Amino acid sequence: MDNNSAGNNSVGHDPLALNKKASSGVAKAVAGHEVVVHLQGVHKGFNMGTPIETEVLHGIDLTLYRGDFCAVMGPSGSGKSTLLNIVGLLDRPNVGLLQICGEETTVMDDHALTRLRGHNIGFAFQYHHLLTAFTALENVMILMLGAAGFPNAQMRDKAAELIESVGLSPWKDNLAGNMSGGQQQRVVIARPLAMNPAVLLADEPTGNLDTKSADLVFALLCEFNQKQGTTVLFVTHNPELAKRCDKTIEVVDGQVTA
Ligand SMILES: Nc1ncnc2c1ncn2[C@@H]1O[C@H](COP(=O)(O)OP(=O)(O)O)[C@@H](O)[C@H]1O
Ligand SMILES: [Mg+2]
Repeated sequence: MDNNSAGNNSVGHDPLALNKKASSGVAKAVAGHEVVVHLQGVHKGFNMGTPIETEVLHGIDLTLYRGDFCAVMGPSGSGKSTLLNIVGLLDRPNVGLLQICGEETTVMDDHALTRLRGHNIGFAFQYHHLLTAFTALENVMILMLGAAGFPNAQMRDKAAELIESVGLSPWKDNLAGNMSGGQQQRVVIARPLAMNPAVLLADEPTGNLDTKSADLVFALLCEFNQKQGTTVLFVTHNPELAKRCDKTIEVVDGQVTA
């Protein structure tokens, strides 16, 4: 994994200064001094240059450190998913700077973005593209398989370990399509973690789950955050869960408030 230190930050200012008002979560992560996500003045709009042009993000500044667990709240349509898509390098800002693990992305071509995304970003969205005709274990193997090109025993062992860590060992050979929503969502959490991403983007991973399943999925995110130092951006409408994160940002009308 090519996680660079904050010392390689090429924005040309002290990234720590951006978070002077920050919460205890930053204190934990600042110990590592490693900025993994840095947005400066990011604007994003859709249908630009057409009569239906809409700007959704209006100048976002955000710095996340290694090990931060950050809740993202805000009303529907405020731009939370747009923000996660930008941080996940699935979409590009129209204006502004975005660094992932010390690398400035706005100058990169698609090939370089794909490489950076593959090495550093994990996605855990709601029921996100699980292969319903494949088993839970196979679903967790899929990213490793994509990276290596062919299956091997270590991959299977690692997937089994992750399946066990999300409490699904007895169901590992079940087809994903036959599992409950809560079980599927645990597979969705386990799958990106096979690649040890620096950043895990979790867009409403507990939405649509009953309280018990939501608590379990949240506990898994916390566990991976603490064990692997994964920086987590966790979109939720649940203030109780948000309170348990290191810090919370709110996206309101396309702007971030701490
Ligand atoms: N690809 C797109 N094309 C046009 N408008 C979009 C697109 N994606 C999102 N939007 C608009 O951007 C706004 C914010 O959407 P989104 O980021 O999904 O909000 P949230 O996740 O906070 O509910 C919405 O008004 C939505 O319609
Ligand atoms: Mg959304």
